[in-house]
Amino acid sequence: MVLEKEKKGEDAVLVDERLRHIAFIMDGNGRWAQKRGMPRSYGHAVGAETFRRIAEYCRKIGIRYMTVYAFSTENWNRPPDEVQTIMNILADYIHNCAEKAEDENIHVRFIGNLSVFSQDLREKMEKIDRETAHNPFCLNIAMNYGGREELMHACQALVRDGKIDITEADIAANLYTANCPDPDLIVRTGGDTRISNFLLWQSAYAEYYFTDVLWPDFSPEDVDAAVAAFYSRHRRFGGV
Ligand code: IPE
Ligand code: IPE
Ligand code: MG
Repeated sequence: MVLEKEKKGEDAVLVDERLRHIAFIMDGNGRWAQKRGMPRSYGHAVGAETFRRIAEYCRKIGIRYMTVYAFSTENWNRPPDEVQTIMNILADYIHNCAEKAEDENIHVRFIGNLSVFSQDLREKMEKIDRETAHNPFCLNIAMNYGGREELMHACQALVRDGKIDITEADIAANLYTANCPDPDLIVRTGGDTRISNFLLWQSAYAEYYFTDVLWPDFSPEDVDAAVAAFYSRHRRFGGV
């Protein structure tokens, strides 16, 4: 595994098929802002910039799939003005990302229970997904996403289809992440060591990496540290 800075040219491929999919629980925006005497909304705005920088970096080092946890099914419990700020940031991203995604070879997908969003936004999300589908780097943005809601939604779809002998493959095929390999590495910033309802089914054999770094401060060097930790581990998948 080569991770030296000088070898990271534009076309460098620095991860291999062992690390196809990296997922991020982007936590710590609010605390980052509060530490600076700023409103939490400022942390979300800076966090959105960090997200773009990290996505670009992951693409550059050869990651094929990246998933980010942007808004959980439980985040509606926040004060309405904070929820509104985050929704505005997500809507801005959706309205502006199409051209950029194309330029940067990104296939942007949105995962979660999207039915709560406006028709306009949903159509825009579907359009971006469709029009960028040929790009090699897949970026899943989880919004109004909850692992339990996703499993419930998959069960409901299987029941609707009259399925009786349900297999693991049936369930996986009805998750929002269908067609995407399971995450190899899940990184959580912000110091907490919990899953918070993220990718419950898909994380069965994921490696976890927790860091105290608050999301707005998270840098390409921090990605390197997480990747290095991943490659230092021995994944046994139940074997020896
Ligand atoms: C993560 O940062 C962003 C979302 C959950 C939307 P937080 O807003 O949770 O920041 P902290 O954890 O309160 O610092
Ligand atoms: C997890 O962060 C959700 C996202 C990053 C979108 P939270 O800040 O919501 O998690 P908890 O509440 O601390 O578990
Ligand atoms: Mg948090």
